[in-house]
Amino acid sequence: MKAMVLNAVGEKPVLTEVDLPQVKDGEVIVKLKAAALNHRDVYITQGLYPAIKTPTILGSDGVGELDGARVVLLPGLKWGDREDVQALDYEVLGMPHDGTFAEYIAIPKASVYPCPVHLSDAEAAAFPLAGLTGWRALMTRASAKTSDTVMVTGAGGGVATMVIQLAVALGCDVYVSSSSAEKIAFAKTLGTKGGVNYTEDNWIAELKEMTGGLDVVVDGAGGEGFSKLSKLMKPGGRMAFYGGTRGTIPKLNPQILFWRQITIAGSTMGSPSEFAAMLDFVSKHKIHPVVDSVRPLAELPAALDRMDAGQQRGKLVVTMEGLSA
Ligand SMILES: NC(=O)c1ccc[n+]([C@@H]2O[C@H](COP(=O)([O-])OP(=O)(O)OC[C@H]3O[C@@H](n4cnc5c(N)ncnc54)[C@H](OP(=O)(O)O)[C@@H]3O)[C@@H](O)[C@H]2O)c1
Repeated sequence: MKAMVLNAVGEKPVLTEVDLPQVKDGEVIVKLKAAALNHRDVYITQGLYPAIKTPTILGSDGVGELDGARVVLLPGLKWGDREDVQALDYEVLGMPHDGTFAEYIAIPKASVYPCPVHLSDAEAAAFPLAGLTGWRALMTRASAKTSDTVMVTGAGGGVATMVIQLAVALGCDVYVSSSSAEKIAFAKTLGTKGGVNYTEDNWIAELKEMTGGLDVVVDGAGGEGFSKLSKLMKPGGRMAFYGGTRGTIPKLNPQILFWRQITIAGSTMGSPSEFAAMLDFVSKHKIHPVVDSVRPLAELPAALDRMDAGQQRGKLVVTMEGLSA
């Protein structure tokens, strides 16, 4: 089969003819139709991820076919028995277990779920990891409820875009931040009420004026922006974060947090039951994940560059169409 193999850190994945994957106990082989990128894939090619092993096939998101049915794949392996936290040996799909940037994948049968019928292949490839991460952060860790005022940082991000769509479908009043007026305007088309540009000095004052205070924050950036947002939390507010693009969080004020009974909750990926719940919600609300672009699998390096430059709006997808012709 053909696969994009990453041979060494610092290189780009290369289209390579490799052996078909071997199935282990409980696994099946899925013929992949499309896969999507996550920032993790960029970090691994750059050596900015723990325990990198090469050669490897990256890719955590995939849609494919099993026994004639269209399926999507749970993007994590070995979550374990607890709902509140993953097991110590939990893995994100795609390094060390070979991932979805290939024609075929061997994967536990339990990781294979029916694909929501309203989605195109590209849309179906686009949502598993971002959707699952966003679902757990928003619904489980931040306990978002209808009519909550929800702030989603970095509106252009893959996870952030899914959080926006989930929160809007839940009936929340959703606000965003972004580095780009165009991305804020696009978020409005998804149903958000407004947004601020986090590169401008007065963004936090503007957000305060716009919202009057926040019930929920879902953040992927960290950094000083997170501390600023904590000051806008209403009593009983919940701040969930799944990423740290801007690094450590300085200047958090404990007095504000304890007096207002604010919850700060780290969040990572999600359990199989959360994945099933998210799939049901996406189907029920006919959510269409936002796809930035679709390229042939061999053009994965260009998609990685686009993500690294932060140029995307929604998910970058690669398709396996035409590969085995
Ligand atoms: N814990 C988990 O399970 C999990 C899962 C997935 C991802 N992550 C992590 O979450 C982060 C985002 O992942 P992704 O795949 O969504 O990446 P992505 O699509 O590349 O999005 C990153 C976004 O970060 C935003 N950003 C940058 N600086 C910011 C700042 N100062 N304030 C607010 N937003 C800022 C940008 O938003 P604009 O373009 O709108 O400016 C950018 O679009 C990464 O660090 C990733 O490793 C964690």
